[in-house]
Formats: sequence, C-alpha cells, structure tokens
Amino acid sequence: MTKEKVLIFDTTLRDGEQSPGATMTHDEKIEIAEMLDEMGVDIIEAGFPIASEGDFNAVSAIAAQSQSATICGLARANYKDIDRCWDAVKHAKSPRIHTFIGTSELHRAIPNLNMDEMAERIHDTVTHARNLCDNVQWSPMDATRTEEDYLCRVVEIAIKAGATTINIPDTVGYTAPVESAELIRMLINKVPGADSIIFATHCHNDLGMATANSLAAVEGGARQIECTINGLGERAGNTALEEVVMALKVRGDIMPYTTGIDTRKIMNISRRVATVSGFPVQFNKAIVGKNAFAHESGIHQDGMLKNSETFEIMRPEDVGLSGTSLPLGKHSGRAALRAKLSEMGYDLADNQLKDVFVRFKDLADRKKEVFDDDLLALVTQNDAADDRLKLKSLRVVCGTEGPQTADMVMEVDGTDIETSATGDGPVDATFNAVKAIFDHGARLQLYQVSAVTEGTDAQATVSVRMEEDGRIATGQSADTDTVVASAKAYINALNRLLVRREKSAPGYDVKGVSYKDT
Ligand code: KIV
Ligand code: ZN
Repeated sequence: MTKEKVLIFDTTLRDGEQSPGATMTHDEKIEIAEMLDEMGVDIIEAGFPIASEGDFNAVSAIAAQSQSATICGLARANYKDIDRCWDAVKHAKSPRIHTFIGTSELHRAIPNLNMDEMAERIHDTVTHARNLCDNVQWSPMDATRTEEDYLCRVVEIAIKAGATTINIPDTVGYTAPVESAELIRMLINKVPGADSIIFATHCHNDLGMATANSLAAVEGGARQIECTINGLGERAGNTALEEVVMALKVRGDIMPYTTGIDTRKIMNISRRVATVSGFPVQFNKAIVGKNAFAHESGIHQDGMLKNSETFEIMRPEDVGLSGTSLPLGKHSGRAALRAKLSEMGYDLADNQLKDVFVRFKDLADRKKEVFDDDLLALVTQNDAADDRLKLKSLRVVCGTEGPQTADMVMEVDGTDIETSATGDGPVDATFNAVKAIFDHGARLQLYQVSAVTEGTDAQATVSVRMEEDGRIATGQSADTDTVVASAKAYINALNRLLVRREKSAPGYDVKGVSYKDT
C-alpha cells in the first residue's frame, strides 16, 4: 500500500515558546531548530519576527543555518509584520511567510472590521506576502468558530491571492474530532481552487482532543499537521508532535499516511525542550513520559518477559530510548563518557566534554551509579558563562528546631558577596539568602522537585518559575543535594529574568486601519 505523506509543521519555537514562562534563549532556539531539522520536520515555525529584536535575530539565524526544513515566520495581517517576517526568513534555502487574522465574529471585533473590510485586508496582505515569497501560509484564526460561509469566502480569497497552504486553527481547543474532519472535507469540497493548495490543521488541547482532532483533520483531507514537542504551548498546549507521528506510525493499518520524522530522535528532543523551556514532561505523558514504557505491575512484567508485545504497542528503541543501559561509575573514563553521551545523541566538542567530565566525576564521587538520566541532567545544566549571578558556596543548618539557617556566598557581577539568612525550612532560608545578596521584586510562582533516578542518592531536579512585572522566567538544576539544586534553579531563573527581553508586539490583534504602511 502506498502511503500519502503528511507534512509535519513544528511550532515549538513560536506557539510553544509563547507559553508564559517557556521563553528560550537565542542559543537554545538555534539548538532546538537544528534538532528539529535533523529529525526530519518539514516546516519549522521559528518565531514571530516583529515581536522583538530577539525573535527577529533568532528567526534569521535559524533560517541561515537550515539544512532541509522550510523555515517559516509568523506575521499579523499588515505589511509591516509581513516585511519584517520576510527579512528574517529570506535567508533560508526554503522560506515561508505565515500570515493570519482572526475571522470569527469575536475576533473580527478586535480590529473592528466588518466582513467586507476583513476580506479586503486578507486579499491585500496575502497578495503582499506572495509578492515577496513563493511559499505563503494563511490562517483564519479561530476558524473552528467562524461562520461556515464566511470561512469559505475568505479561504477562497486567500487562495486566489496566492496562499499555498491554508491552515485551519482550532485556536481555543473547542472542536471535536468529527467536526475537525468534516470542516476540512467541507472546505475541500466547496472552495474553488482548494485542490491546488495544502490544508493544514492546528489544534489546541483545551479539551484534551488536540491529537485526535489533528488526526481526524488528516482523515478529512489535511496534509499538514501543526504541532509542538511535548505539546508545549499556551494554556493546555498544542498538538504533541510525538503523539501524532507515533500514532500514524503505529496505526498505519487504519491511517495510511507517512511522515518524514526519524522517530528515534523523539526522546532526545523531548528532554531538551523540557529542559530549556522549564516545562517538565508529566510522568504518564503518552510517548515521552517517564512511565510511558515502564511496566511495573506484576502481571505486566510477567507478560513482558514472555513476549514484549503483550503490553507494548511500540518498542522503546522506536522513540530513541535505549533498551539496556549500563550505568557509568567513578572509574569510568572520558572515552566511556564520550561514547555514552554520543549514544544518547550528544556529540560534544572537546571543551564541552571536559566540562561535563569534571561534573561527572564530582557526581560519581557522591553517587555509586550514574545512569543515563543523571548524565542528561549534567549535560543539560543551563548555566551560562555570562550569568550575572553564580552560586559559590552554600551551607544550610537544618533540624527539628527552626528557624533553619543558610550561609551563602554568591558571585554578583564578578564580586563575591557573603550572607547568612534564616527561613521556614532549608529552601526558604536559601531563597532568603539569595534575596539578601541580590534584592529583587520577583515572585516565586512555582517550585517543583523530582528525583532523576531511584534511590536515596538520586539527583533531585528542581524547577522554579518566577514572575516580575509580567515577565516570567523558569530555571532548572539538578544535584544530589536537593537544597543546592533548589538554590541553583532559583538563581538560574533570576539570571534568565535579568536578560529576558520585553516582547513588544506579540499580541494577536491587528488594530488600526493603516495596515498598508510599511
Ligand atoms: O492558535 C492559533 O490560532 C495560532 C495562529 C496564529 C495560527 O497559533
Ligand atoms: Zn496556536
């Protein structure tokens, strides 16, 4: 049976990164884009170039380094956005402009346009984009709540104006699978010119139906799925790339479609996105959760030992989990570490390996066996050389009688500062010490601890989310000492807050009538 190809459009770096607190640094975006390209993603939505200088630079750099993937940028329905987007993506071997406007009654009210005025704007902006770039995607935002006749009308206008892909977003995660399939089918049947373009589906997961809706849309005729790694995205997130890709692979018997994704690269990119976004993957998350391939109950283990197909519908290796994994220990040398990291998808340069090796030896001294997950935590420590704040030393006194005391030395802009602070528990005392050394107005929004591996000598991974004046940053760290990991994660979040750029124009509204101004 020949299978039709479904294009995978990844928007981790745009819709995913837009999730409050998921901001990534420039280098992290470049790295994720490279991983997406290598895993076979067809189109990478690299950002929203008009939103900030940082977004523009990231999209331009990703475009310049792209190998196989088409690089796409987002633009609202005005010439300024579209020009800025083109300036960023034009460096790519295969560039795409993605322009959108909200077409439902609720969304038309935002720029205060009536149906005819909006139709005219769609015509003009898509034409403008197409004059710059051969590859133009157009989205009627909130399509699933747009009046059907109006949706057909504006899709036809966009196609006539030169759009090559029409994306149908379920912006608020409202639609259900039968409707998702039917909507695409209806557009293909009714809109003149629909057979000359590709329909895409873009689903949000507010009702937990994003994956089902995306697959249903493919049944209805869509040939591009928009998704993010780990389902990262605003509110309940977007369709998870790993879920749709694995569903199409495992259930090819009833869904005869292929993707170009090398599924063995899924696990590494999932872990990397979790680290850099600061959004950990839930343990029981499909495909990439820690428990997705764990069979702990007695009956399951018995069945698995006899025949793994008893309870497994896909092999761990298919998503990049190595089957048997021998731990390293304190006698393991640099070559063994290099080989293990390479097996895990991390080919480090000599100076990076040197750095990781020092941290590995330090960990191996404190922990008998160093597992893959421990190594991953070591490799993905996200401290940067130019961080303004660095933890130099920490000693905490705990006990049944409070308050607990934290003695800390922290480097601030190159100068060591020492303090002692008390608190309600060791973590509180530690965070108070940081604040005593570096006063800040940031509010702690989330503090989360999880064990990397099993055993009492396991490393703890700590995630911290902080907010200051509407800006949000997350920090992560791992250490066998939970309080040290907490201090480092807290300082990491503060460092990120300090460098975080303000996003000046990321709103979705297209207010004002001067959309033709460039
Ligand atoms: O959810 C949405 O509608 C979007 C559009 C910008 C495509 O992300
Ligand atoms: Zn979206």
